[in-house]
Amino acid sequence: MSTSAYEKVAKCVEAIRAKTSFVPDVALVLGSGLGNYAENIKIEAEVSYSDIPGFPVSTVPGHAGKFIFGYVGDVKVVCMKGRIHFYEGYDIKDVVLPHRVMKMLGAKILFLTNASGGLGEGFGAGDLMLITDHVSMFAPNPLIGENIDEFGPRFPDMSNVYKKDLQDVIREVAKENGIDLKEGVYAQLTGPSFESPAEIRLLGKLGVSAVGMSTVNEAIAANHMGMRICGVSCISNLAAGLSDSPLSHEEVQEAADKAAPLFTKLVTESIKRFTI
Ligand code: HPA
Repeated sequence: MSTSAYEKVAKCVEAIRAKTSFVPDVALVLGSGLGNYAENIKIEAEVSYSDIPGFPVSTVPGHAGKFIFGYVGDVKVVCMKGRIHFYEGYDIKDVVLPHRVMKMLGAKILFLTNASGGLGEGFGAGDLMLITDHVSMFAPNPLIGENIDEFGPRFPDMSNVYKKDLQDVIREVAKENGIDLKEGVYAQLTGPSFESPAEIRLLGKLGVSAVGMSTVNEAIAANHMGMRICGVSCISNLAAGLSDSPLSHEEVQEAADKAAPLFTKLVTESIKRFTI
């Protein structure tokens, strides 16, 4: 049942449908470094989060965010410019509400992007990493609570979240464009504090290659709904304890901005080649 959670999503969809009838095939979540990605979209419609009743809106002035509807090549996309993070204080269900909304609007593929701290062997700041799997147990699971049967089963399988065919497309595009694409497992922690060196050593022992504060809870909710998922992370810094400099948000943003042109190329060309 959980009608209220379902109805909250349905109401958001209804509000968006009152503004646009655009039906996207691909949903793209823009992480750090892809803030200007809209330049690559032939825009058909935009809907501000603040215009959607019940939609979580960032409390930080100027960071409200919006959905952008349009075309990447011939592919119909909806982009999330500005995502909601658990560390901002939102209920975990609100963090994944936008993804559920994008699925209900028609999106079949979810392309997740983010910035992260790298700990994989040979990783450096500015690298791009294909997410091949994730570790979720250090962050809250968005499916806790009554199951929303309209979305998916109580105990969804997570053995194949990041789809092989989408990964292959991204690898192929990287190769053709001379992008040294790393690969690995992404772990989400709650943040907002960065990790300690001891935590990073622990994560390394668990097989983690990159660590961040988003994405995994989104992938879990989208996989629950049957979306086909892929993800690329921009390694914006070496994780705590792996370099001499202390971590800062400014450093993360700067490195992500530097990687933006290649990141943009990889995302755009991959989307154009996806089989919907
Ligand atoms: N840790 C967690 N989240 C991050 C990092 C990091 O080192 N870099 C960018 N996002």
